[in-house]
Order: sequence, then C-alpha cells, then structure tokens
Amino acid sequence: MNAVYEKLLKCCACVRKKTDFVPKVAIVLGSGLGDYADQIQAAEEISYDDIDGFPISTVPGHAGKFVFGYVGEVPVVCMKGRVHFYEGYDVRDVVLPARLMKLLGARILFLTNAAGGVNVSFHPGDLMLIRDHISMFAPNPLIGANIEELGVRFPDMSTVYDRKLQALIRETARENGIHLQEGVYAQLTGPSFESPAEIRMLRLLGCDAVGMSTVVEAIAANHMGMRICGISCVSNLAAGMTDNPLTHEEVQEAADMAAPRFKTLLTESVKKMGE
Ligand code: HPA
Repeated sequence: MNAVYEKLLKCCACVRKKTDFVPKVAIVLGSGLGDYADQIQAAEEISYDDIDGFPISTVPGHAGKFVFGYVGEVPVVCMKGRVHFYEGYDVRDVVLPARLMKLLGARILFLTNAAGGVNVSFHPGDLMLIRDHISMFAPNPLIGANIEELGVRFPDMSTVYDRKLQALIRETARENGIHLQEGVYAQLTGPSFESPAEIRMLRLLGCDAVGMSTVVEAIAANHMGMRICGISCVSNLAAGMTDNPLTHEEVQEAADMAAPRFKTLLTESVKKMGE
C-alpha cells in the first residue's frame, strides 16, 4: 500500500480507538486563534501526541489537539494548532490532519489563519473571506503516487472555496454587522516573513493576503472532495507597507483584537452549515 495512505489509515485507526465521534465540519484554527476551541462544547479531546505518527507542531502558541464537540447542534472537530511546512515536515504530513478529519466523517473543511495584509485597503484586525489562493514555493501535497482511494490524479481546482459556503459566510457577516474583506490568499513557505519586494510582487500577481499555511491543506482536501471555506485574520500589513518590522507577537495581538468578531463569524456560520 502507498506509505502516505498507510500512515493516514493508521492515524485514523488510532483516533477511532479513542472516540467514535463523527464530525460534520472540520475547523482548523490559525495562529493566535486557538482560543476559539474553548467555545466548543467539547465532548472529547485527543492530543496530537497520542496519535501514533501524527505530526506535532513546534511553534509557541500552537498547542496541539483535536477538540470534538458541538457548535450549536453541529458536530465538529476542531484542530487547535496545525503543523507548517516550515517546521521541516514533508508536505504530505502537513496535510495528513485535513485528510484524517475527512476520513472521520467531516464533509466541510473550515480553514482559518493569520495573514499579512497585501491589499492596501486592509487593516490589522480585518477578517478576509478567502475566495481563491495562490501557492508559491510550497510543494504540491499531491506529488507522488496518486492515492486513488482519496481522489483523482489531476483534480480540478477551479472552485476550491465552495461558492455556497462563501455566500453563507458573507451573509453571516452581514447579519452580525461584521465587516468582511474578501480576496486571494497566497501561501509562501516561511518561516521568514516576506521582503518588501516580494510583497510588491504578490500584489502585482493579485494576492490580497499572505501567510504560511492553508493552501496545501485546501489542495489536499479538494482532492478528497471536501467542501472548503476559509477566513484569514489580517494580523499585520505585510512587509514594507509600514515602517515597523514584523514580529510574531504582533500576530497574537491582532488575533486578540479580532477574536470577538472571529468567534461570532465562525460560530454563526458553522451553525448554518448544519441546516
Ligand atoms: N507574512 C506571512 N505570514 C504571516 C504574516 C505575514 O506578514 N502575518 C501573519 N502570518
């Protein structure tokens, strides 16, 4: 059997030994946004290090666990902490958790992240609905023998971010008086932040926000036929747009500023996904 698939099935079996919870929506919490997990009426929690072979994050603030529970009536699995390609993991390990949540039953993947604002009209603390993405320099997670059990060799990527879910999130933002930016998210590898010249390049290419996650997970999840949506929390204006150097602390501060809006948007959107 394909080694990547075998590892995935082993992780899945390991989780199934601990819980028979079947989530409908899978939520990935981005940097600084992990506190959202406390909002979930938790039924069960599984620490990543209790899952044999599961990739474990090394970044401060990325405590790693799955929280299984309910948002309203909707059964969800929430990832508090994710691993990033820049930590040195094979990209196929980076997408293992997303694939695993699909195998556990999740049909919808709700991706969130902290991102640098590239669009000049964005402000720190803004929330951005991801309409599309650009992958830059991170390898495609589908490289290697295709796992036929998961999807086709050449998957279509014309609508990675489900249009109905986008409309649902837009409507939820409007109903709750939350200002929502929209745009294209670019994933670069990190861990260094971008240079001002790279940010000008990204803007020319049509990017609105930049970060170090999300796209590879979206590609793998789309390959498996999941319905995907995503929200970026703009934690800073990208390099060169202000005179300030960028720091990881800033990411946490902006996430804290956006937390009440982020929480409302996520909760109310997920509730509607159960309808
Ligand atoms: N660049 C890349 N990743 C990020 C940034 C940024 O400016 N802010 C938060 N994550």
